[in-house]
Amino acid sequence: MIFAANFKMHHTRQSTTEYLDRLEALLERAEYPFKVMVFPPATALQPSREWITVGAQNAYPAEEGAYTGEIGLSQLHEFEIDTVLIGHSERRQILGEDQEFIAKKFAFYREHGFQIIYCVGEPLEVREQGFEAVAEYLWEQFDDIDIDYERLIVAYEPVWAIGTGQAAEPEAIAATHAELRRRIKRPILYGGSVNPTNIARIAEIPDVDGVLVGSASLDPEKFHALMIPV
Ligand code: G3H
Repeated sequence: MIFAANFKMHHTRQSTTEYLDRLEALLERAEYPFKVMVFPPATALQPSREWITVGAQNAYPAEEGAYTGEIGLSQLHEFEIDTVLIGHSERRQILGEDQEFIAKKFAFYREHGFQIIYCVGEPLEVREQGFEAVAEYLWEQFDDIDIDYERLIVAYEPVWAIGTGQAAEPEAIAATHAELRRRIKRPILYGGSVNPTNIARIAEIPDVDGVLVGSASLDPEKFHALMIPV
């Protein structure tokens, strides 16, 4: 199982360091056979720990240049970061990233050998149209994405389940992951209101190889507690 924590725009540099110290201590004591990843804000990026991969929530597809407000390959290299989240629905919807730009990011970081967590997910209006519409929508989000890339991890995050406290039903997760599994050979994570109450049921779904967690990951004890029942 992969447990990935996406802090979004939470935590500072100092609190991220304290978080990693605490989580590292918890993992060290228990020696869980999990892959654990943490995505702090850009200002809190720092090298990975022995059991915790630190990744970037976003990065521009260039080494450096005139891209106000962005960070790129040089900035990530400074902290030995080689893991990046691409295609998160908040960047697609709030920041207006389209598939062409997202594919450009993917190609750039793929070319530089990064581990890429590639996010896809449908909005509620598509879910309401039925499963076929969902499948079609999700596959469109793989346009120009190399799904055979060996350092790819896919995260399925239904937009309507993100930050709502209402995770998708296990049956819906199972069906969607099975659809993705037809062509995706790499790990597939589920994301969207994963919490200590639903983790056990989600983790046992076939084709769920891990979880991408937002709000329930902000406290190291709470995030670590997700790993206990699994
Ligand atoms: O990247 C994480 C997801 O967007 C899930 O966020 O756990 O707060 O629903 P959430």
